[in-house]
Amino acid sequence: MRQRPYSEYREYPEEEMIRRALEIHQELSRRRTVRHFSDRPVPREIIEQCLLAASSAPSGANRQPWHFVVVTDPATRKELRAAAETGEREFYGGRAPREWLEALEPLGTDAHKPFLEDASCLIAIFAQTYSLAGEQNRAKNYYVTESVGIATGMLIAALHHCGLATLTHTPSPMSFLKTMLGRPPNERPFLLLVVGYPAEGCQVPDIDRKPLEQIATFVEDESAHRHVDARSSSGEKRA
Ligand SMILES: Cc1cc2nc3c(=O)[nH]c(=O)nc-3n(C[C@H](O)[C@H](O)[C@H](O)COP(=O)(O)O)c2cc1C
Repeated sequence: MRQRPYSEYREYPEEEMIRRALEIHQELSRRRTVRHFSDRPVPREIIEQCLLAASSAPSGANRQPWHFVVVTDPATRKELRAAAETGEREFYGGRAPREWLEALEPLGTDAHKPFLEDASCLIAIFAQTYSLAGEQNRAKNYYVTESVGIATGMLIAALHHCGLATLTHTPSPMSFLKTMLGRPPNERPFLLLVVGYPAEGCQVPDIDRKPLEQIATFVEDESAHRHVDARSSSGEKRA
């Protein structure tokens, strides 16, 4: 394996690290899923840069098993909306288990998906279950779901960072994306990201985030404890 120096790495003083940690926490906490979009067009260059950012994600055996289809064409968005709503009417009209519908209730979602036409940009994300290395040469991909999930998270964060709103949409079923967008047999639809600007007066569900003690467990180094204790006894606030 060819190696090279990791010259991109940047080291920061600890104070700067803490400032950056607070900053990214605040920045990402402002992201919300938006379900009401304006029709304002999104500059293509922003989408391209965010896709390249997403594609820098780690992936199992570096297979990069993702493909992004960016749809801005209004006629195609209209067709995608119609196909999505057909499936969603069945989902909300009986196919979804009661428990699932109850979980969705606070979000106020239903079979109507106007955002698929209102938002100026849709990104259909496909997961490559295997790679096509040459005409008939299949190469196995590894940890496909994990890899595409990480890339998608990075894409959402990148778009948010640029000032765009997103909706992570998982139409049920999603197979129409593959046929309508003409994707090859080695790909399965992963999700449909709706991208754009929030509509004027856009509202979002008033939901809470779990506190740190519920989402994380620390199995700590005792010496790190002593370090924190020493800091807290010198007047610093402990979380
Ligand atoms: C994998 C996944 C699938 C989702 N599918 C949908 C969807 O089909 N429709 C929808 O309105 N929201 C969908 N959401 C958005 C969630 O409802 C939303 O992220 C959650 O309620 C938290 O709200 P927030 O994103 O504003 O923090 C999905 C989110 C994820 C991560």
